[in-house]
Amino acid sequence: MEESRWLVRERKKVSDGTLRRDADQTDTLLQATNVTMRFGGVTAVSGLDLALPKGRIAGIIGPNGAGKTTAFNILSGFYTPQEGSVVFNGVDIRGRSPADICRMGMARTFQNIRLSPQMTVLENIMVGCHVRRRCPWWMAPLGLPAFYREEEEIREKGRKLAQRVHLADNIAEQAGSLPYGAQRRLEIARALATAPELLLLDEPAAGMNPQESLDLMHFIGHIRDEFGLTILLIEHDMKVVMGVCQYIWVMEYGALIAQGDPDTVRSNPDVIRAYLGEEASLEKGL
Ligand SMILES: Nc1ncnc2c1ncn2[C@@H]1O[C@H](COP(=O)(O)OP(=O)(O)O)[C@@H](O)[C@H]1O
Ligand SMILES: [Mg+2]
Repeated sequence: MEESRWLVRERKKVSDGTLRRDADQTDTLLQATNVTMRFGGVTAVSGLDLALPKGRIAGIIGPNGAGKTTAFNILSGFYTPQEGSVVFNGVDIRGRSPADICRMGMARTFQNIRLSPQMTVLENIMVGCHVRRRCPWWMAPLGLPAFYREEEEIREKGRKLAQRVHLADNIAEQAGSLPYGAQRRLEIARALATAPELLLLDEPAAGMNPQESLDLMHFIGHIRDEFGLTILLIEHDMKVVMGVCQYIWVMEYGALIAQGDPDTVRSNPDVIRAYLGEEASLEKGL
């Protein structure tokens, strides 16, 4: 697909060298080591270790309050943990801003959708494209043709990505007026527009009906292949997690209680116990 070629090209342009890895490194794209994060007296994440190989689709699951979103916020640089380290593509992300980390090739969506609701669908996606723009913003008032050429290129990329997430008919609509499922797809398109290598999705199926969740599951598999991504997702919907993830980490009270492929996790007694407290856990596919 043309979009995926564009993304590969854009990635190659990242010139600060942070994406280059030493030949002797393993294929681990993201590694958290002994990460601990406390909020006052609450330990939201406790001694978290995880290593995500390139090209995988992996998930973090766990009951509400287990520390999943906090883990995501740490992995994407929104929070700096009191202890431990996070290494992305061979680079320790401590002290780097989320914008910097995004330029390094990590994009994310949020549990509580964070779009610009007054802006159109296309404009929201274009915001993501601007992460990779060549002409700096201050060129805008100078009226230079290069600036407007790039703006037009970005608009075209935005249109293609809108098409890819089945929002081609909605590009002129305000993001805030879209149904919930469409807003989630738009957030994914905006993340893809930053030309990521790693995509983090926080509860992408939240608020979706069963058919939408199923479609999303297939969609996640397709975009991984099409855009050459590694994907880490948090999900409450067990059917989505078990259907799409090759590897799963299970958190409870901030700590990992199990990990492995879906079958291993599904049959783990600690996982069953953690979920039995949750209403209708069996209906969720566990
Ligand atoms: N910004 C914060 N300030 C204080 N406590 C927080 C904050 N974020 C999360 N927590 C607490 O940390 C724990 C884990 O929350 P969270 O990471 O949101 O869990 P999950 O995403 O698994 O539902 C909860 O007890 C929550 O109340
Ligand atoms: Mg959460």
